[in-house]
Amino acid sequence: MKPRDYLPGPADLEYIDRVEAPLHPVLCEIEVAAEPRGIPIVDRAVGRLLGAMATNRPRIVEIGTAYGYSTLWMALAQVHRGTIVTVDPDRSRTDLARRFWRAAGIEDERIQVVNRPALEALADEEEAALQGPFDLAFLDAIKTEYVDYFEALVPRLATGAVLAADNVLRGGRVADPTVEADPSTQGIRAFNARLLGDARFNATILPVGDGVLVAFLRG
Ligand SMILES: C[S@@+](CC[C@H](N)C(=O)[O-])C[C@H]1O[C@@H](n2cnc3c(N)ncnc32)[C@H](O)[C@@H]1O
Repeated sequence: MKPRDYLPGPADLEYIDRVEAPLHPVLCEIEVAAEPRGIPIVDRAVGRLLGAMATNRPRIVEIGTAYGYSTLWMALAQVHRGTIVTVDPDRSRTDLARRFWRAAGIEDERIQVVNRPALEALADEEEAALQGPFDLAFLDAIKTEYVDYFEALVPRLATGAVLAADNVLRGGRVADPTVEADPSTQGIRAFNARLLGDARFNATILPVGDGVLVAFLRG
């Protein structure tokens, strides 16, 4: 394998911030609100990636809302007023998320929140919001449950859909065989192996933020 002779550094990130479209002020507000409270939100580069992927994907499902940062990246990028269903049992977080989405001018009907644990909601055939089909699924909740989110969502994906998942490198723990794997790391290793070995998908891990796996459904 060709050795890597360059890894992007802080100057590259500053350059990207300079040349990309200015960050939406409400995305800035969420970053400022989340940081002191220790609310884990996707890296800004992951937000940009999600926005790019959301462009022509009118029906999106997200597992793990928090303050709605990743949700807003996708909602701002969707064309033709697409919709997003986002799942998070923590209503105090999603109520704040709704305030941010409104401040950004996103109409309430475009984002539907399901305040339930994702596996419970996905197993409930009466949960109308999660019936699908979806053009993009984004996973960012409990790492030990990623494989189960995936299995539950596959039948609800539209032809040509993409599934993305955050934290698939977990700060280097996933890649390091000398690390005694905690359950989340084990869960992510199993998820990565499952997705990369699934012939129905064309999947790859991008070293963006904390690692993002993107899997495109063939056909
Ligand atoms: C990493 S944060 C999501 C961050 C968000 N995607 C962003 O980038 O702005 C994970 C969220 O998963 C939520 N969560 C915890 N248990 C969950 C479950 N069983 N189902 C769905 N979400 C859950 C937490 O409340 C938390 O807000």
